[in-house]
Amino acid sequence: MSKITIFNHPLIHHKLTIIRDEKTNTKDFRQTINEIATLMAFEATRDLPVKAVKTTSPIAVATTYTLDCEVVIVPILRAGIGMVDGIQSLIPTAKVGHIGLYRNEETLEPQLYYAKFPPTIKNAVVFLVDPMLATGGSAVAAIDILKKQGAKKIIYMGIVGVDQGINNLSSKHPDVDIYLAAKDEKLNDKGYIVPGLGDCGDRIFGTK
Ligand code: PRP
Ligand code: URA
Repeated sequence: MSKITIFNHPLIHHKLTIIRDEKTNTKDFRQTINEIATLMAFEATRDLPVKAVKTTSPIAVATTYTLDCEVVIVPILRAGIGMVDGIQSLIPTAKVGHIGLYRNEETLEPQLYYAKFPPTIKNAVVFLVDPMLATGGSAVAAIDILKKQGAKKIIYMGIVGVDQGINNLSSKHPDVDIYLAAKDEKLNDKGYIVPGLGDCGDRIFGTK
């Protein structure tokens, strides 16, 4: 089964307060989403493989460790884009793929409109990122696409999720570990997370 990590950290709680606040402006919202992604990535990358190398310091030769895998970050458009810079600030060599999905507002079913990936995706550790895990339909569809591309190691990072989305994702893709900054109460009748953040894509890009 998926390993599920819900963060309980003072800095993440503090930053969640900022993004939940309806008065937070676009610039601060986007910056804080990225900061949360950075903090989460520190933990979500804990099991990345490393290899030992010899490094000569000004004093002596030391055995040190470097990352021994490719990392690919795949945001689900649009809102996932808001987490990419925050993760790349820790892993600047990470490549970036994109999956464009939007939810049909009536059926809540995800509709695919774009997909593009770096060729290394098959052997990379892939971080699928999207701030909102609501019904889980978008995350499940995105992972179906990644697996069709040959991705073997996928980690999901979101900011706010609910049980419905977590259970949907972990039952369809039990090999994918899930990291969330917060688990909220429920979905409302429009499929929005309660209390949530509102429409995350609109708040990141200022489109409403
Ligand atoms: C939002 C969000 C997720 C999806 C989550 O995207 O960013 O991708 O909804 O919902 P689900 O778990 O029920 O699938 P949206 O469709 O609003 O597109 P946008 O990011 O382009 O605004
Ligand atoms: N997508 C959002 O942007 N917000 C929600 O609460 C649910 C899906």
